[in-house]
Amino acid sequence: MIFGATGDLANRKLFPSLYRLYKKGKLANFAVVGVGRRTLTQEQFKQNVVNSVSEAIAGSKNDDLETFASYFCYHSHDVTDSSSYAELKNIADELDVKYSLNGNRVFYLAMAPEFFGPIAIHLNQDGLTDVKGYKRLIIEKPFGHDLESAKELNEQIRTAFSEDEVYRIDHYLGKAMVQNIETIRFSNAIFENLWNNRYISNIQVTSSEVLGVEERGRYYETSGALRDMVQNHMLQMVALLAMEPPIKLTPDEIRSEKVKVFRAMRPIEVEEMDKYFVRGQYGKGLVEDLEVPSYREEQMVDPNSNTETFVAGKVMIDNFRWAGVPFYIRTGKRLESKSTKIVVQFKDIPMNLYNRPDQEITPNLLVIHIQPEEGITLHLNAKKAGQNMEATPIKLSYANTGIAGINTPEAYEKLIDDSLHGDATNFTHWDEVALSWSYVDKISQAWEQTPSTQFPNYASGTMGPKEADELLEKDGFFWWPVN
Ligand code: BG6
Repeated sequence: MIFGATGDLANRKLFPSLYRLYKKGKLANFAVVGVGRRTLTQEQFKQNVVNSVSEAIAGSKNDDLETFASYFCYHSHDVTDSSSYAELKNIADELDVKYSLNGNRVFYLAMAPEFFGPIAIHLNQDGLTDVKGYKRLIIEKPFGHDLESAKELNEQIRTAFSEDEVYRIDHYLGKAMVQNIETIRFSNAIFENLWNNRYISNIQVTSSEVLGVEERGRYYETSGALRDMVQNHMLQMVALLAMEPPIKLTPDEIRSEKVKVFRAMRPIEVEEMDKYFVRGQYGKGLVEDLEVPSYREEQMVDPNSNTETFVAGKVMIDNFRWAGVPFYIRTGKRLESKSTKIVVQFKDIPMNLYNRPDQEITPNLLVIHIQPEEGITLHLNAKKAGQNMEATPIKLSYANTGIAGINTPEAYEKLIDDSLHGDATNFTHWDEVALSWSYVDKISQAWEQTPSTQFPNYASGTMGPKEADELLEKDGFFWWPVN
C-alpha cells in the first residue's frame, strides 16, 4: 500500500522502481494499492502509473506496462476517517486472496510527516495490521523535526509496528557507492590498516547540488540544509566511514557499530558552534550560464528568511581510532556542480626526499565518487618518466559505470527490494535517528539563538561562503576540488 500515491515521490521514484523489479522477475505475487486524497478512477490511476514509468524509463514497452499497471488499484482515502480504513482493509483482503499474498503487507508512507503518526495509529486500530503474514512499514524522512518530535513520532508508530518492522528510508544508503564504503574498507588489506588517526589526516564528505529549493519552499523553510541533508545522509556517510568492522555483515551488527560512532561524536556546545559549523544561504548568481534568483526570492520562502541552504562542519569522533581526525562535511544547494564525493586524505610521508623548491609531493588521497560518476580514485606519487629522479602525481581510477551489461540499480529499487526481503541493513534504526538528532539539535539551537546577519552569504554557482574554506584553513587543510 502506497500512501501518497498521487504524489511526486510515488510517480518519480516508486512506480519506476517497482516496474524495474517487476521486469527482473523480483515481484512474484504482488498487488499495489495506491492510496491518496484525490478522487481518481481506477483507469486514471493505472494511466498515471503507465505515464510515470514511461517518463522515467525511456524505451519501456507499452504492452508490458499495461500488464504491470493491472496489478495496481486506487483507493481515495481520508486519513482521519476509520470507515475509509475499513474500505481499504476490504480491498487489501480481496487482493490477498486474488494474488495469493499469504497475508503479507507492506505499508509505504510517501507523504507529509504530520500524517505518519495518525496513519500508523489507524492502521492498528482499524485492523489493517492484523495480518497472517508479515507486516512492514516503510517511512520517508523527515523523521521528526528534532529529537523530541522524533520520539513522539516513534511512539506513535510503535503502537502498530515493532522496531524490526519499521524501515526508515535514507536513500543515500541505497546508493551503490555508499554501500561500497564498507566493501572498500573491509575487503582490502591495504586500506583497513591505514584507516585510523595514525595515517589519515582528515576526511571530507561533500554533497553539492546545483538545483535550488525549487517548489519545496514550504517544507525547506522548516528544515534547512541541516535537517534536510546533515541529520540523515551526511552523518550516515560519516558513520559508515568511521565505524569499526562489524563481526558479521548483518543488520544488527552493522547498526551496533554505527551507533557507537554516533555516540562518539563530540557534542558541540552552543557557545563554540562557530568553531565547528558554518551556515550559508544562496544569493542570486549564475548557474550553468543562467541568472537564478536568491533563496529569499523563491516561492513560499520568507523574504527575510534565516534558513540555511548550505552547511559545512567539522565532526570530531572521540574514540581511539579517530581521536584528532576531523571529518569535514559540506552540503548545499545552488552550488557549482552536482556531486557527492568522499576524500580520504592520508598524512604526509615522514620525510620528503623529493621536496625541492620546484616540486611538492601531494598527499595520498582515496576518493570515493558517489555520484554522478561512480568509482574510486587513488592518488599516488610515482617517478616521472625520463632521466631525473622526480616524483609526479598519478591517479589509479576505477569507474563503476561504463561496464558493459552492468546497470547500477536506482537507490529506491534496491531499498524496496531489501524491504520486501526483510533486510533492514540499509535502513536507519531508531537509535541512529535519535543520536543524530541530538547531535544536530545543538547546532540548530545555536543558530536559532543567533540568526545570521550575513545572509545571503554566497552567490549561486559558487562553492558556498568563505567561512567554509576558513574552517579547514584554520586546521591547515583545504577542500579538495569535487569536479
Ligand atoms: C533529499 C533532500 O533527501 O536528498 C533533497 O530532501 C536533496 O533536498 C536530495 O535534493 C539529494 O539527493 P540526491 O540523491 O540527488 O543527492
